[in-house]
Amino acid sequence: MNALIVSADNDARSAVQRVCGARTPPITVVREMPGMLSLGAGVTLGKPDLIFFDARGSVDRALEELTRVSAKYPKAMVVLLAPMQSPDLLIAAMRIGVREVVSFPLDLVELNAAIDRLDAKAREADREEGKLVSIVSSKGGSGATFLAANLSYALSAVARKKTLLVDLNLQFGDAALFISDEKPAMTMADLCAQIGRLDEHLLRSALIHVTPDFGVLAASPNADPDDRVRPDHVAAILALARQHYDFILLDAGRQVNAVTIRAMDASDLIMPVLQQSLPFIRNGQRMLDMYATLGYRKDNIRQILNRHDDANPITRADMERGLGHRIAHLMPNNFEVANESINQGEPVLRLARGSNLSKGLIDIVRSLTESPVSHSGSIIRRLFARNPVPTH
Ligand SMILES: Nc1ncnc2c1ncn2[C@@H]1O[C@H](COP(=O)(O)OP(=O)(O)O)[C@@H](O)[C@H]1O
Ligand SMILES: [Mg+2]
Repeated sequence: MNALIVSADNDARSAVQRVCGARTPPITVVREMPGMLSLGAGVTLGKPDLIFFDARGSVDRALEELTRVSAKYPKAMVVLLAPMQSPDLLIAAMRIGVREVVSFPLDLVELNAAIDRLDAKAREADREEGKLVSIVSSKGGSGATFLAANLSYALSAVARKKTLLVDLNLQFGDAALFISDEKPAMTMADLCAQIGRLDEHLLRSALIHVTPDFGVLAASPNADPDDRVRPDHVAAILALARQHYDFILLDAGRQVNAVTIRAMDASDLIMPVLQQSLPFIRNGQRMLDMYATLGYRKDNIRQILNRHDDANPITRADMERGLGHRIAHLMPNNFEVANESINQGEPVLRLARGSNLSKGLIDIVRSLTESPVSHSGSIIRRLFARNPVPTH
């Protein structure tokens, strides 16, 4: 981070300088302005991210200069160094967008805390958009819900990613039960019924918080008789979630409806879950055909072969041949651990860290977190750009 210090007071300048230099990583002071000179003068070594602005003296003069400095560096965040008793100055500064004020005599702890808060805010603003991953059941009983729930937990516990699991099964969704015994305060249908009030706070209050970094938006236990869950509601919820989570995993179930298609359309990756049998090959093929029709790129479709068993006469290669698309991940068959985990509502990684299922989950987490994402977070979206659909 770069900083600009605007102060006529040598002591104040060196105090701020010391605080900046002592931080890890240090903040580089790109320019010190001894008082409120014309901003045109002098050499600036780089654009400041932070401006320490000493606002002592005439309030009008200070505000005039502050307005000028913040107009010159509109992206910079300002720490106002101000006398205690100046409500007029504070209110006017707040109006310009200043949110941090440190009073004199300068307290270094206070100054550091103000920088911490701005730093956290900047990182939040820089956060890449979260990745949206749809886990799709190729056929009932594939293990899609089990994997969506356990992968979500693993992303937060192993890779420290802020993760949201969204249950898109509009009938009898059970994803939350796989990893928690808590009752949700609100379900997807309840949230959609209040869509006009949707914001981060409402979304958070609707979740089951399995850990501070992992929340679940549960489905209604009943069918949705009033059709409260609409495609654009779900799209709005997912768009909001992208701003606040690193990963959003959807248990997309196996129903193809307007809601799931809209959600898959917004997804960065689609992960169909299959098992070694002919019905899975047939259904899997149908789904791949549908994705091709929708224009989804093949490399964003990562098939998971679940309950993989070397002894099964239908091999991975048979599956790949039949499907015409490669299997990206194998999850071993482990009925004992899977069953125990589901019955206890306890994630596999917590229950049996050393099991082959945990290892499989960690491998998938690694591939999800290591795939290249541009710093703007938009490359995935571009990669996922639709293939041109012929218009004859
Ligand atoms: N890797 C696995 N090994 C053993 N059993 C599994 C595995 N994955 C899933 N299961 C079992 O399959 C059942 C169905 O899983 P579920 O996630 O509900 O499937 P879906 O959501 O695709 O209908 C679960 O009850 C679970 O016990
Ligand atoms: Mg399911």
